[in-house]
Amino acid sequence: MAGMRLNRYLAACGLGSRRHCEELIAAGRVRVNGQAAHFGMRVGDDDSVQVDDAPVTPPTPRVVWMLHKPRGVVCTADDPQGRPTVLDLAREHGVRERLFPVGRLDLDTTGLLLLTNDGDLSHRLTHPSMGVEKEYEATVASRPSDPTLQRLRRGVTLEDGPSAPCDATCESQGARHVVRLVLHEGRKRQVRRMLAAVGHPVIALHRTRVGRVRLGDLEPGSLRRLEAEESRALIDSCGASGDTG
Ligand code: URA
Repeated sequence: MAGMRLNRYLAACGLGSRRHCEELIAAGRVRVNGQAAHFGMRVGDDDSVQVDDAPVTPPTPRVVWMLHKPRGVVCTADDPQGRPTVLDLAREHGVRERLFPVGRLDLDTTGLLLLTNDGDLSHRLTHPSMGVEKEYEATVASRPSDPTLQRLRRGVTLEDGPSAPCDATCESQGARHVVRLVLHEGRKRQVRRMLAAVGHPVIALHRTRVGRVRLGDLEPGSLRRLEAEESRALIDSCGASGDTG
């Protein structure tokens, strides 16, 4: 936040557009460290800014973290059964921001979970109209036939309506069969329900990607802040605006 132009700082604090904030400054309604503010001045975290004698709350920078969610950890903020939550994991790793999970993974699902302090970004990433891709690897007991994979791609009947068209492929190595699904929607237990509907119940489920963000080789239970490039890609994928720290 150091060295931001005052009109931009006021806008980031939620006081309206930069133009409107310029007008506040021009009208002499803004004070910085007790002195009348002037146009073009820069302010940082250590400055105290007041509008009409009321202190302005500094903006919270947007942050996005990725977690390799292990099995047995819940995605809710509080679990009535006292099971560990993804937010407990974040705190154990020394994350101080107030984060919340972007969407949910089931208790037994592992893999990529994004955490952010930005409600708007989270909403956009999970809203069906944005169609942000999510890629899963589902281990099943036997190899689905090509017509079965076709059915998955076209959409299968679920109790809350048919699944939307998606990508579905299968990689087999010996007795291990992994169905890779790329979905544009995120209904409750959707992958498990889709595969059960075609006679291939899921044995293990792992998410590898959300939009252009990949889990990579992050260890189970570990977190890391997204790189600037990853954040930008994520924000572009859902039309959110602004900078991410
Ligand atoms: N689909 C599921 O069935 N479970 C998840 O956790 C995520 C997607």
